[in-house]
Amino acid sequence: METGGDDQTPSVVHARRDDATMTANSQGKLPEQTHGAPDGNRGRRSNAFRPRTNGELRFPQRLSLVAASPACHHALMQNLSDVTLRRATAADLGAVIAVIYDDPPPDVRGIVADVGQARAIGALGVRHGVEADIRRTVVAELDGRVVGIIETMRPGDEPGMSLPVMLRMLRDGVRIGGPALLARYARYARARARVQVEPAPGSYYIAELDVHPDHRNKGIGGVLLRYAEAAARADRFARMSLGTRINNPARRLYERHGFAVVQTRTDPAYEQITGIPGRVLMVKTLD
Ligand SMILES: CC(C)(COP(=O)(O)OP(=O)(O)OC[C@H]1O[C@@H](n2cnc3c(N)ncnc32)[C@H](O)[C@@H]1OP(=O)(O)O)[C@@H](O)C(=O)NCCC(=O)NCCS
Repeated sequence: METGGDDQTPSVVHARRDDATMTANSQGKLPEQTHGAPDGNRGRRSNAFRPRTNGELRFPQRLSLVAASPACHHALMQNLSDVTLRRATAADLGAVIAVIYDDPPPDVRGIVADVGQARAIGALGVRHGVEADIRRTVVAELDGRVVGIIETMRPGDEPGMSLPVMLRMLRDGVRIGGPALLARYARYARARARVQVEPAPGSYYIAELDVHPDHRNKGIGGVLLRYAEAAARADRFARMSLGTRINNPARRLYERHGFAVVQTRTDPAYEQITGIPGRVLMVKTLD
C-alpha cells in the first residue's frame, strides 16, 4: 500500500507488548473466554480475541504521535498480541490468493465452472495486481502465517486494471476456461459495471478486505479496519469509503465501525448471474 512510501522503513513494526490491545495465551492460542470481542461482537464466539479494556479495542497512546508524521505510517502496523500487520511483498502472493480464493467470492462463482476454476481466475487477478496490489496491501499474520489482507487506495492511485493487463488477463483466462468462460465473463463484466460503486470523492478507500475462512470471526477483520482508519486519520482524510455486495454479512462489521450506506445500485442481470442483487457504497466520516 502507499502509506509510508518510505523504502528505508522496516516493513514490520512491533509495538511494545504492553501496548497490545488484545490478548492471547503463551501458546499463541486464542483465549477460550471472551468478554466481548472487538467491534462489539457480543462475545458470543469462544475463539474471539479478548480486548483488554471495556469491550473496545484501543490503539496505544503513542499511535497518535507517530500518526502526526505521514512518513511514519509503517509504524501504524502494530503487533496486536499475536496478530502482526506488515506490508505485503511479492513473496506473499500465494498466501494472498489463498486468503481471498480458498472460499471464492460469490460473484466469481457465478461465472466459473467450479471452485478450482474460481481459484485459478482469482489467482490471475492477484498476480496481475488487479486485486490486492501488493504496493498498497497490508497483510495480517497469525503465528507467522498470512491470515488476512487489506488493500487501501488514495485519490490518484492508479487502478490495477490497465488495457495491457486486461489483454493479458483475457489471454490467460481463455487458457483456464476456454471461450465459454470468456463469454460468461463478458456478460458478467457488463452487468458488474451497472452495479459498480466508485470511491467517495477524496476518501481513503478500502479496496479489499479479506480474512482466510479458517480465521474469520476472531476479530482480525476488525483489526485490519482499525489499522486502515488509523492510517486514514494520520493523513488527515475527512472520510473513508468502501464498496461491498448488498447482501454481504460484512456490512454489519462495517456498520459497527461507523460506516453507513450512501449509495445502492442494483441490476437484474447481475443478480441473475451472481445471485447478488447489487452493491452498496459505504462511507465513514472521520472527525
Ligand atoms: C469480511 C471479513 C474480512 C471479516 O473478517 P473477520 O476477521 O471475520 O471479522 P471480525 O471477526 O472482525 O468480525 C466479524 C464480522 O465479520 C463479518 N463476517 C464474518 N464472516 C463473514 C463472511 N463469511 N463473509 C462476510 N462477512 C463475514 C460479519 O459482519 C461478522 O460480524 P457479525 O458478528 O455481525 O456476524 C471476512 O469475513 C471475509 O474475508 N469475508 C469474505 C470476503 C468478504 O466478504 N470481504 C469483504 C468484502 S467488502
